Amino acid sequence: MKAAPYEPLPERKTAILHFRVPASVAASLSQQISPAAGLKSANDVARALTMQALAERERHQQLGAFNVYNLDRYALFQGDASRVLANLPARTFKTCITSPPYWRQRNYGNHADQIGQETDPDQYINRLADIFMLVHRTLTNDGTLWVNIDDSYKNKELVGIPWRLALELKRRGWYWRAEIVWAKASTPEPVKDRPTRAHEAMLLFSKKPKYFYDYDAILEPHDSEWAVDCIRKAQASGLTERPRTNPFSKDKRAVNGMRGITRAEYGTLMNPNGKNRRDVWTINAEKFRGAHSAVMPVALADVCVKAGSAVGDVVLDPFAGTGTTGVAALANGRRFVGIELVPRFIRMAHGRLKESGQTSGNLPDEPRPKDGARR
Ligand SMILES: C[S@@+](CC[C@H](N)C(=O)[O-])C[C@H]1O[C@@H](n2cnc3c(N)ncnc32)[C@H](O)[C@@H]1O
Repeated sequence: MKAAPYEPLPERKTAILHFRVPASVAASLSQQISPAAGLKSANDVARALTMQALAERERHQQLGAFNVYNLDRYALFQGDASRVLANLPARTFKTCITSPPYWRQRNYGNHADQIGQETDPDQYINRLADIFMLVHRTLTNDGTLWVNIDDSYKNKELVGIPWRLALELKRRGWYWRAEIVWAKASTPEPVKDRPTRAHEAMLLFSKKPKYFYDYDAILEPHDSEWAVDCIRKAQASGLTERPRTNPFSKDKRAVNGMRGITRAEYGTLMNPNGKNRRDVWTINAEKFRGAHSAVMPVALADVCVKAGSAVGDVVLDPFAGTGTTGVAALANGRRFVGIELVPRFIRMAHGRLKESGQTSGNLPDEPRPKDGARR
């Protein structure tokens, strides 16, 4: 089924512009008068609040109308991740692959709901954990969450952000399955009292102890000559059965009076297509032309998409930025739902994804140059 193409709601022109608030209400609204923000009277404040509430209601109507079964390829929602997630249907997404704003590293444009600018790291961790609990509700029961996150320094001390987040998510019921090291080319740092950082974390969580994980889709090539030789010998001798003795226990073999096993027999224990993916991934950072200061490499998202979902599944990113997770999802035949606070970034994401198919959601379609983030 195809999603209805995105149609912006018609602009509202209402009589609200002219209404008057009674004196009793005006008194409480007057505290919010701010001539710099164009709010010169209590009537202005009342009008701004009413327009805000109407816009919010429209957003909710659009989200309520969203149905993932009608999703053809992807949908992008502009707004605060927690508000949007709270309105999305439960048990919908197979996997969530995301990179939230890192703590106190970048300002994406002084948006009121922006995450990452909290003065206290615990506040930041709590806000993120609250959002990931909303993600938890929207994941299928065999779903997974992949979080690419980096640490920050405070007063020359490493804060421990990835571990703090992981422990908080564990406390709230997630299963922490892996801490993957994303090894990347180092960015020069002006430090001489510690090694230069050249990695970030990719944390893998699952909703339940058993979950979807496509081991075969992300195998690594065998890198030892011995393993390659064992596989070759097994194939050459036509051996397919696993050895009856435990090949790794010399003692057990001795007790049972059995001989050691041959390379060909070892070869039957190995997957000819490769070995299980290790937890250090060396992937170079990418610079997406179009400028967002923290773009994830498509190759990083690609591994998570392949392991965390099957063709046709829906992949979620609540901090979508320029839509990198979506690019990897669509390239692998998955569908994608992205949420992003900053309209400028969501338009960039749409620019990258639109080649791949139809969209729905509340995508802003006219450029508004003034919503730019500070770089
Ligand atoms: C690290 S960037 C994500 C980059 C993305 N993975 C990419 O490759 O382009 C984090 C994003 O979270 C967005 N963001 C910050 N606070 C948000 C919120 N409350 N709700 C939704 N998005 C938010 C920022 O605008 C930023 O684009």
